[in-house]
Amino acid sequence: MELQQAMEMRHSVRRYTDRKIEGEVLERLQQAIAEANRDSGLNIQLCLNEPDAFSGAMARYGKFHNAVNYLAFTGKKDRDLDEKCGYYGEKIVLRAQQLGLNTCWVAASYSKGKSAAVIKPGEKLLLVISIGYGENNGVARKTKTTAQLCRTDGTMPEWFLRGVQAAQLAPTAMNQQKFRFELDGQTVKAVASLGPYTKVDLGIAKYHFELGAGEAAEWQWAD
Ligand SMILES: Cc1cc2nc3c(=O)[nH]c(=O)nc-3n(C[C@H](O)[C@H](O)[C@H](O)COP(=O)(O)O)c2cc1C
Repeated sequence: MELQQAMEMRHSVRRYTDRKIEGEVLERLQQAIAEANRDSGLNIQLCLNEPDAFSGAMARYGKFHNAVNYLAFTGKKDRDLDEKCGYYGEKIVLRAQQLGLNTCWVAASYSKGKSAAVIKPGEKLLLVISIGYGENNGVARKTKTTAQLCRTDGTMPEWFLRGVQAAQLAPTAMNQQKFRFELDGQTVKAVASLGPYTKVDLGIAKYHFELGAGEAAEWQWAD
């Protein structure tokens, strides 16, 4: 499965079967996590067969079922932490989709105190992503229009439109989609508006934008 297809197929899945993550799938998932940790400096931990974080009222209210595996995102408390977790987390999420797994980003619907993640001094646990074999593959949801998610000076190059279309598929907290891509020449500025976890959402949307826009056109992110 190509990454474009993985973006299209991915939907949040909150109910999982008993099937274990093991063998080659587990190895490849661990490789993706190791790569993300190396490139980002984050400390992303795979917690397997750990039911406690998703056994409380929050998880039930959030409609989670059999969520016993999750990725815990811990890292140094700096100003880039949220965006980094979004960007590198979505890389792992799309890799997981390619491996036949399902996922759901979770910032609120779990018991943070019962997570199995090891949090080092100076670090914090920002959020988790539940992962496993879903009871189903989830469903498509509503999205803002491309016009609502970008600003241009009138012209809209094909690569930019493809980037924004890919970002439409990006998961965001409460499906708020509070991000916008602004085009100035060949430079793209990614902007997050105020709200809970909008910086995480921005990191996720930026990774999708990069995949959609591709490398054929010469464009760059604004600083
Ligand atoms: C940063 C972030 C935090 C999220 N937190 C939760 C959560 O606490 N509980 C939950 O059920 N879903 C959570 N979600 C999943 C979103 O509700 C979901 O991604 C969004 O509604 C879009 O649906 P989709 O993922 O199927 O495209 C979160 C998503 C993101 C990106």
